[in-house]
Amino acid sequence: MKKRTFLIALGLAVSAGCSFANAQTNELAESEVQTKVKQAKVHAKALGGALKSRLKQAIQSGGLEAGVEECQLAAEPIAESLSQNGWEVGRTALKVRNPNNAPDEWEREQLALFASLLEKTKLEGKPPSTPIDNYKYDSDSGEFRYMMAIQQGQVCMACHGGQVAPSVKETILKHYPKDEATGFELGELRGAFTLTYSPQ
Ligand code: HEC
Repeated sequence: MKKRTFLIALGLAVSAGCSFANAQTNELAESEVQTKVKQAKVHAKALGGALKSRLKQAIQSGGLEAGVEECQLAAEPIAESLSQNGWEVGRTALKVRNPNNAPDEWEREQLALFASLLEKTKLEGKPPSTPIDNYKYDSDSGEFRYMMAIQQGQVCMACHGGQVAPSVKETILKHYPKDEATGFELGELRGAFTLTYSPQ
């Protein structure tokens, strides 16, 4: 599975401590799983940070349209440069802009779960204070997977909100004719970082 990996990751990962402890830890010691969780969080943040600064720069110098184009150009190389030592990093969502980011079955399940958790905190009127995330470990293959929710923030509205400016919309559709990633509300689940570690 060579999935296109890309993170804009504007640091809004509502990454959150509810790591539902459903990992099968029979062969990998619990402490090793926790180490993997920590590493996954570091990788997700690195990707988020790198894309955030590239996006910010592009928007400052050339506006939102330039931001869209920069995302398209920079995302994959950035994610690839950070996908090392058995890790593969990327982003996914239930509604995607880039079809290469579409979720697989496990990712879809986690996204649905994250969405309902965020909905709940929205009803309570406060953003979650800890990351919303989850992981699983397959003791047969040794594969470890981790996901962390990314929440729709104010800065995302210009390109993923309900009222994207016509010129921005046009640029988006030029590069992503099948774009599904608009219409998100503030605080809603936009997507998630998704990371896989495969033993080498
Ligand atoms: C300048 C426009 C722009 C802004 C601002 C922006 N994005 Fe995006 N976003 C894009 C583009 C373009 C893509 C498709 C990238 C690709 O080719 O993988 C994308 C893709 C994504 C994806 C990957 C899933 C998908 O839809 O393909 C996530 C998750 C995401 N954005 C979250 C955010 C969040 C969260 C924010 C705000 C913190 C944000 N974006 C701000 C343009 C933008």
